[in-house]
Amino acid sequence: MNTRVIVFATSFLDELITHPPEEGMGTDILSSLEADTGVRIDYRCERDPAEPLTPAELEGATAVIADLEHYDAGLLGTVGVGAGGTLGLIARYGIGYDSVDVAAATANGVVVSNTPGANARPTAEWAVATILDIAGRRIPHYRTASRGRPKQGPSRLDVTGRTLGVVGTGSIGKHVVELLSGFGMNVLATDPYPDEEWAREHDVTYVSLEELCSRAQFITLHAAVKKQLIGRAELDLMSPTTVLANCARGQLVDEEAAYRAVMDGELWGYGLDEIWTRDDLELDGLNIAVSPHVGSDSDSGKANMQAASARAVSDYVRGGRPESVVNPEVLS
Ligand SMILES: NC(=O)c1ccc[n+]([C@@H]2O[C@H](COP(=O)([O-])OP(=O)(O)OC[C@H]3O[C@@H](n4cnc5c(N)ncnc54)[C@H](O)[C@@H]3O)[C@@H](O)[C@H]2O)c1
Repeated sequence: MNTRVIVFATSFLDELITHPPEEGMGTDILSSLEADTGVRIDYRCERDPAEPLTPAELEGATAVIADLEHYDAGLLGTVGVGAGGTLGLIARYGIGYDSVDVAAATANGVVVSNTPGANARPTAEWAVATILDIAGRRIPHYRTASRGRPKQGPSRLDVTGRTLGVVGTGSIGKHVVELLSGFGMNVLATDPYPDEEWAREHDVTYVSLEELCSRAQFITLHAAVKKQLIGRAELDLMSPTTVLANCARGQLVDEEAAYRAVMDGELWGYGLDEIWTRDDLELDGLNIAVSPHVGSDSDSGKANMQAASARAVSDYVRGGRPESVVNPEVLS
């Protein structure tokens, strides 16, 4: 067989520091696949995901492990198996698949898979860290203490016994509730698909987004949507001691409105796990924590996502069905 699998996911280059290698790593799964089937594994992890992909780069590829490079209709209409090309699987490393035109993939016979749950626990840990950092004003405290100055501004918020509001009770939202259970919080949640059984077991009350915004002191966003949920109207429902943490996606929050609310003392602080691109909105000194989308970037998160995406490729190349397929209609 002269086909190949291309690994674009940059994390396959990273050294895992603490994760025990005997747990079945992605590279091991791919090496076995290569040995068993003769398919060639091409590691192209150093490629910049921002660079547009060309059909020539994908020549002869039966599957890819995808980072954030784009797979648009034009490309898929050339390289997809249904269009006379070779590409049959885009295995996303991670849960999101915004970078893939799924309708075009389906139209051109390309299966799209992802790795739900593989990074839920580490992302939840990061959300909890973000909530605690904002509650404790760690960013402004760092600014003063690191410059040899004493504490400025108010003391931190207590967390114990307060009300937590979880927007989106999927894998990550549920882990956050479990991780924060030691703080004895009252937990409110909102989700268009409530999990009532889980809510009963964990003493969680589902309410509307509006009620959650007006009652919860700690609001954490874990909704898998591509639209804004928190704008001026929702911020107006919050209090000056509300903590807002967004370790889902930047677009869920009107960032300028959140920034101004923190600036004007109407919101305690905002935590965002995305790169801040608003040069016009100066963060220095504000209780706003930003991080470069590293929620899942722990050893176990990477190891799980590598293994899950490699398993999807292995299953597909061996004639099976990847575990989590985004467009199952392509297989029917
Ligand atoms: N920061 C990171 O590194 C990182 C890592 C992994 C995932 N994420 C993001 O976290 C989010 C959640 O991931 P997950 O694995 O828990 O997904 P999931 O699919 O398990 O759960 C998402 C939940 O959001 C709910 N939802 C959809 N629309 C909603 C709405 N309008 N209001 C409230 N809830 C809504 C869904 O019903 C579902 O229960 C995704 O946006 C994902 O892209 C971020």
